[in-house]
Amino acid sequence: MLSTPITKDIDYDKVYEPSEDSFYLLDCFEQERDYLETKFKKNKVPIITEIGTGSGILTTFLLQHILKDGIYIATDVNPNACKSVLQTVRNNCPTQAHLVDSSQMDLTSAIRSNIIDTLIFNPPYVPASEVPDIPVTDEDSKWLDLALLGGEDGMIVTWKVLNNLERILSTDGVAYILFCARNNPDKVANEMTDRGWKVDVVISKKAGWEVLTILRFSRL
Ligand SMILES: C[S@@+](CC[C@H](N)C(=O)[O-])C[C@H]1O[C@@H](n2cnc3c(N)ncnc32)[C@H](O)[C@@H]1O
Repeated sequence: MLSTPITKDIDYDKVYEPSEDSFYLLDCFEQERDYLETKFKKNKVPIITEIGTGSGILTTFLLQHILKDGIYIATDVNPNACKSVLQTVRNNCPTQAHLVDSSQMDLTSAIRSNIIDTLIFNPPYVPASEVPDIPVTDEDSKWLDLALLGGEDGMIVTWKVLNNLERILSTDGVAYILFCARNNPDKVANEMTDRGWKVDVVISKKAGWEVLTILRFSRL
């Protein structure tokens, strides 16, 4: 079992605290280690992007255990999260800290097209009447709403990424995205398959009253 990064000294009133969904993604990457190592061993140095890093637990885990020599471009719309990921990387793997950069942006909007080899997203997936507006100040208490609420079917933010996957991923790139049952992951998988993507279920299991599913998207 691979060790879990320590995510301490973070203000969890303003940054999403690692939860069951985050820990399922750690399980997912432990399971995917051979697949990812093999996929990128023969290749150039892989570029890894996590959208919405929160505390930075996932990016740090990947750097520490899975893709140790990759280049990491971490993003979050929340400036507090952008700082937290760098702090978590420094606390857990100081000798690799130079491999991670963190930028405040909407999804991957400031990253060049077709350079991301591994994309990770634990999105705001809770169904809600709307996706909240972006708070104006770093101190706003609404940053946590933005971490959770995903609008209609909890899918508004996730569909923005899926609809743009062709532009985001490199030729042999792969994306890991987490869904709850109310996001209808089966329907999403069918729709993306119809659009020509290979979709694999990496993990699907019960988390309390919720069922969480992690899908892997790659080109055929
Ligand atoms: C469910 S949290 C996941 C946090 C962390 N990855 C984890 O697994 O513990 C969702 C994250 O996505 C970020 N987020 C929400 N909308 C975003 C957007 N449009 N662009 C970038 N990040 C966004 C939130 O600020 C939050 O940090």
